[in-house]
Amino acid sequence: MMTRKRVYGLTARLYDILDLPFELGRYRPLRAHLFSGLSGHILDAGVGTGRNMEFYPQECSVTGIDLSPSMLDRAAKRRARLGLRVELLEMDVCRTTFPDNHFDAVVATFLFCVLDENQQLPALKELSRLCKPDGEIRIIEYAYSRNPVRRLVMRLWAPWVRAIYGAAFDRETERYVPGAGLRLVERRFLYQDIIKLLILKTQA
Ligand SMILES: C[S@@+](CC[C@H](N)C(=O)[O-])C[C@H]1O[C@@H](n2cnc3c(N)ncnc32)[C@H](O)[C@@H]1O
Repeated sequence: MMTRKRVYGLTARLYDILDLPFELGRYRPLRAHLFSGLSGHILDAGVGTGRNMEFYPQECSVTGIDLSPSMLDRAAKRRARLGLRVELLEMDVCRTTFPDNHFDAVVATFLFCVLDENQQLPALKELSRLCKPDGEIRIIEYAYSRNPVRRLVMRLWAPWVRAIYGAAFDRETERYVPGAGLRLVERRFLYQDIIKLLILKTQA
């Protein structure tokens, strides 16, 4: 099986084009919503091509990490185009080199659906370590719809999504939240019943 780094090495060039219908039709309003009320130093984990950049709050400083140098190259181009100062670093979200409590908030959009089931807990533990105790970890993810027709369509899409993005719709990130020393503060759907927002905080 291809590693995620290799998948995104191949996909990077086409990522923004392949994703464009979903970006315009679904993701943009969700990205704007994701950053509302955040301040200070934010980590964008799995920054990809930097699709979130337009929505970073002006007064915040942001660090973006990603496993894939090819995706980071694209993100650097977007950063230049938008005239932003964003730190971009090649790192695995399960093993970063940042000190404890380094960030005021953490966001991850469509990262956990790309991580394998056995990476969910290590990734959450690492984000828990990096986020200040009063900070929030905000995650936007896909889930399988409960509507039979929508679910069937998603099942038909799944092999393509797996091949192009190394992603799956059936990750159960919430299951690992307590084990990572986190608590689920909020869970709600932002688009139909297929794109959800999870807000996590460290356990008091
Ligand atoms: C589906 S893309 C989402 C990108 C971006 N967050 C967005 O909303 O468009 C997933 C990204 O996660 C990155 N990724 C996959 N595994 C990773 C890991 N273990 N650590 C850091 N980034 C990872 C991929 O390289 C890819 O850029």
